[in-house]
Amino acid sequence: MKKLQWGMIGGGEGSQIGPAHRLGAGLDGLFEFTAGALDHRPEEGIGYGRSLGLGDRAYGSWQDMLAGEKAQDNPIDLVTVATPNSTHFEITKAFLEGGFHVLCEKPMTMTVEEGEEIVKIARTTGKICAVNYGYSGYSLVRHMKAMIARGDLGKIRLVNAEFAHGHHADAADAENPRVRWRYDPAQAGVSAQFADCGIHALHMASFVTGQDVTKLSADTVSCIDVRVLEDDAMVNFRMDGGAVGRLWTSSIAIGRQHGLGIQVFGEKGGLRWSQEHPNQLYYMPLGERLQIIERGEANLSPEADRTSRVTIGHAEGMPLAFANIYTDLAEAIRARKENRSIDPAADLYPRAEDGLRSMAAVFAVAQSGKEYGLWYDARPPMFR
Ligand code: NAI
Repeated sequence: MKKLQWGMIGGGEGSQIGPAHRLGAGLDGLFEFTAGALDHRPEEGIGYGRSLGLGDRAYGSWQDMLAGEKAQDNPIDLVTVATPNSTHFEITKAFLEGGFHVLCEKPMTMTVEEGEEIVKIARTTGKICAVNYGYSGYSLVRHMKAMIARGDLGKIRLVNAEFAHGHHADAADAENPRVRWRYDPAQAGVSAQFADCGIHALHMASFVTGQDVTKLSADTVSCIDVRVLEDDAMVNFRMDGGAVGRLWTSSIAIGRQHGLGIQVFGEKGGLRWSQEHPNQLYYMPLGERLQIIERGEANLSPEADRTSRVTIGHAEGMPLAFANIYTDLAEAIRARKENRSIDPAADLYPRAEDGLRSMAAVFAVAQSGKEYGLWYDARPPMFR
């Protein structure tokens, strides 16, 4: 089977998320890294791209890359947008309109209106627009979703999600330009910590339960007082299948590293999973004993089997979760090329609609936070 061709915008040398994408896209041998505009500095982008083997398909800007790939006989099949947030909209829009499938980093856009536009463009062009809620690619997260969908927990009563870290807890470092911009509305938009990390937890809550968030109430606070935007938020929400939601996100939680976790409680049992220990899922059936489900165990769901690679007991981590998003996308692209239906266990990659729902939640959190927790509709206008 011929490899699909993959391109990347952003993710230059020293970037935070670029290497995880390159690992993820390359892991299963489904994509070949073919083209890139990797840096906002053209020379550095071309130089780094060439050092990674891109040859004359290392471009100095995304505009050059769009023009160059459109002119290719065999252009890229998928482009990943891993640039800073404020550029996602125009790059994603241009590539979708140029006829390319896109995987965009989160947050997909800076406003709800832009998010709605991206959803509409993806629908009218028929191109895939995925959003990198990469943690939804973990095998046991897929298994959690499958267990909930098949009714193992019964009706879902409560979801408790969190994403807490302590990497911006040092008040003495708050004015460091590399940290400060994140809490400056002129550069970060209406929300800092919720838009950066909270949306991962909120997406996770929707992903595993299969329910969308309808309304929310937020308590947002800047624990370090030179900050305009929040570094901590507690959000209560409601979901369209009747579940009650609680979400805590923080960047001042000293001692927490990458504390993304989720607990789901239904009428018949509870599940608990955390990103720092992704190879175990805790399952408590009502009235029985606590069970630890290990990634790679026999007799899990097709969704879990498909996304697990190494044998039980050997840890799989974050780049492999990203790889599962790429494997889903490869299957989606191939199914289109071959004019066949997609494997349902692969049809789980996060979409533009998820990116849009997150933006609506971000704005609802920001507004509610200003109004001491007033409840707001968290749905994008086009889904009301
Ligand atoms: P970064 O600042 O470390 O790297 C950004 C890269 O993009 C740099 O190489 C820069 O030169 C390049 N760049 C900037 N403007 C560009 C342009 N116009 N054209 C081409 N390249 C350009 O940023 P980081 O942390 O890697 O974040 C990038 C995106 O990934 C953000 O949207 C962030 O929210 C998201 N992210 C997502 C994560 C996830 O778990 N899904 C985790 C970390 C970041």
